[in-house]
Amino acid sequence: MSRFLLIDSNASFEQKLRLALAGGLPGEMATISPDSVIGEAHELLSLIMGNRPEVIVLGPGLATEDALRLATVMDVQFPGLSVVLVAEATPELVLQAMRAGVRDVISPLADIPSIRILLERASQVFASKYLKMFPGATPSSEQGLVIGVFSPKGGVGKTTVATNLAVGLGKLAPMNVVVVDLDLQFGDVASALYLDPEHTMTDAVSNSASQDSMVLKAFLTVHPANIYALCAPLEPVMADLISADQVTHVLQQLTAQFKYVVVDTGPGLNEHTLAALEQCTDAVWVAGMDVSSVRSLRTGLDALRQLDLIPETRHVVLNFADAKSGLSVQDIEASLAAPIDVAIPRSKALSYSTNRGIPILQDEVKDPATKNLKALVQRFDPQLREKRRKLHRRAVVQ
Ligand SMILES: Nc1ncnc2c1ncn2[C@@H]1O[C@H](COP(=O)(O)OP(=O)(O)O)[C@@H](O)[C@H]1O
Ligand SMILES: [Mg+2]
Repeated sequence: MSRFLLIDSNASFEQKLRLALAGGLPGEMATISPDSVIGEAHELLSLIMGNRPEVIVLGPGLATEDALRLATVMDVQFPGLSVVLVAEATPELVLQAMRAGVRDVISPLADIPSIRILLERASQVFASKYLKMFPGATPSSEQGLVIGVFSPKGGVGKTTVATNLAVGLGKLAPMNVVVVDLDLQFGDVASALYLDPEHTMTDAVSNSASQDSMVLKAFLTVHPANIYALCAPLEPVMADLISADQVTHVLQQLTAQFKYVVVDTGPGLNEHTLAALEQCTDAVWVAGMDVSSVRSLRTGLDALRQLDLIPETRHVVLNFADAKSGLSVQDIEASLAAPIDVAIPRSKALSYSTNRGIPILQDEVKDPATKNLKALVQRFDPQLREKRRKLHRRAVVQ
């Protein structure tokens, strides 16, 4: 690993840089020749991945055009890196460099103390950018909870439950929650959270992100409720290009970095959903209060049990709960062969909040649905989780 990476063919500048670093800046420096990276952007990316530098110096031996191209590639792939360009700083060049994401331009004739100060500043910027991007991220030694929201049917409230759960957990663990949209064809987490994502799952499974969790995090979208979102691809056809193995890997990367990974899924049990089930510590099963919804959940659960694909901890949510539906909680529990843990009433405020893209738990709207969604969130509060293990309360439908 080298903290500073010089891309240059000019030995005299390399010597200057080494002298500047020798004056008190900790960390190694590596030099690579431009020939190996200019033609092939992926060579550069794998070199960066291998060395994990904080500061890249584009030396005076590089043609300006090549240097700016490399800077642009790095700015897109590694937005946290500090890139310094060594060139005579004309106003035109400075403007171009800024657009390419270069942090500073320094003259090849600069003296050693000036170079040292500039490198020091560049590495400080790296540290603060890194922290800003991932302020609450936990170190990779601690594994978080992976909570999947599932149901064989569409329209039963999975996305509503998943987004509210993520927002509620964001209050327990700010910046330590990510909601992942695994309804890869028609996912609507972005719309339920009123996000306009710049990057999606397509970027998250790319080579650069799958090899480096820091790159992966740069592809997440930050939501004002202090949570991150990994949104579904913008085009349904892109879903076909994402394999179950890629889903598994991205969930494992996120689990190592976040305390809570909430996974919204599409209807049915496709390969992406099965991959998610395997990674989940907790499954939230959602059923509507109608015979067909309950029956399909029972069939689905039976099939998964046979495949031994049921996550360790189960939470059953009855949505659109309505005492006048002609079904009782007891009927449904008997059909499901499982107790209902949380019942969410049919609520105008809830459907209004999804349509506006502001989860009801974000706005703290006074509504019975808010109360019950909070009860669902509490099931994942580590302090209450222990207590709950000892106690099971039957849900009450009003
Ligand atoms: N308890 C509820 N009361 C009223 N409307 C609800 C309730 N739960 C969900 N909805 C609405 O139902 C629709 C489908 O919900 P959604 O969460 O998108 O389902 P899914 O993700 O399972 O397809 C949305 O418009 C949502 O606002
Ligand atoms: Mg949905």
